[in-house]
Amino acid sequence: MAFWIFMLCLSYCSHPALSAVQSTGSASSNSLADSARGPHFDTSASKNVTALLGKTAYLNCRVKNLANRTISLQVSWVRHRDVHLLTVGRYTYTSDQRFRAIHQPHSEDWTLQIKYPQHRDSGIYECQVSSTPHLSHFIHLTVIEPDTEIVGGPELFIDRGSTINLTCVVRHSPEPPAYIFWNHNDAIISYSSSRGGVSVATERGETSRSVLLIQKARPSDSGNYQCNPSNARPANVTVHVLNVANVIGEHPEAMQHGGNQRMGSTVNVFALLTILLLNSYC
Ligand SMILES: *[C@@H]1O[C@H](CO)[C@@H](O)[C@H](O)[C@H]1NC(C)=O
Ligand SMILES: *[C@@H]1O[C@H](CO)[C@@H](O)[C@H](O)[C@H]1NC(C)=O
Ligand SMILES: *[C@@H]1O[C@H](CO)[C@@H](O)[C@H](O)[C@H]1NC(C)=O
Ligand SMILES: *[C@@H]1O[C@H](CO)[C@@H](O)[C@H](O)[C@H]1NC(C)=O
Repeated sequence: MAFWIFMLCLSYCSHPALSAVQSTGSASSNSLADSARGPHFDTSASKNVTALLGKTAYLNCRVKNLANRTISLQVSWVRHRDVHLLTVGRYTYTSDQRFRAIHQPHSEDWTLQIKYPQHRDSGIYECQVSSTPHLSHFIHLTVIEPDTEIVGGPELFIDRGSTINLTCVVRHSPEPPAYIFWNHNDAIISYSSSRGGVSVATERGETSRSVLLIQKARPSDSGNYQCNPSNARPANVTVHVLNVANVIGEHPEAMQHGGNQRMGSTVNVFALLTILLLNSYC
């Protein structure tokens, strides 16, 4: 609407009759103004785009009143960075085969498809209509990457006998990761090993989380822990289990009742793994 008024002002501000039409804003004068208006962008359907690294991106440009009985105009896409002409109408001009023009006959949408987007593709793209003077609408493309983080890293200090709680967060992955594996000093952590007291809980979604709990930390639990999501970069932390002499002495009950919890967590891990496997094959 603001754009429309702006366009009218540019063309007709000095024209008293049209200024009056604009200010009354009745339905009949609106349609009169609209046909006189010529081509314009539908900015609500031509928005900025955030794309995932490597996942096909679509930049849309919707142009109203592009063609009429007397005139037919072209819509082009230009990369702003190097003023590189990418597409004209339905034709792709660039030799970079990742770019493609998409347009269905009689549609108002002129779409620029970018396959395998990279960080360097981030920037401004111009949708241009070949009127005189030409019309431009600018669309910002931002290419983002999946990001993996272990909360509290890169180094964690844990008292001997307490619980190691590592939370791995995966953001901006194209899909929730099918699985998130944990490694300790390069070996995959086995939740059913004789160590016991090890459990993991995974929550998958737009942001995914995997929480690794290791009960009653021992010095041998020290070292590098790595979180490995199936479709994002790994992250790691270094855990130092501090040998605080009387921690265990202060909590004898934790020593005695740990065994039951261990059974419980092993069962939970199996349930979780089953759910994860089912999810990844559906
Ligand atoms: C067709 O579009 C051109 C350019 O916008 C405009 O000048 C002309 O008046 C239009 N003609 C009709 C019949 O709508
Ligand atoms: C598009 O992104 C740019 C830069 O972040 C911003 O200045 C502009 O207002 C955005 N446009 C829309 C329509 O959101
Ligand atoms: C582990 O830490 C997370 C925060 O990083 C917290 O939300 C969660 O409750 C903790 N779990 C346990 C069992 O301490
Ligand atoms: C741990 O992560 C850091 C960056 O956070 C990286 O430089 C380092 O190579 C990683 N170490 C291992 C063993 O994966």
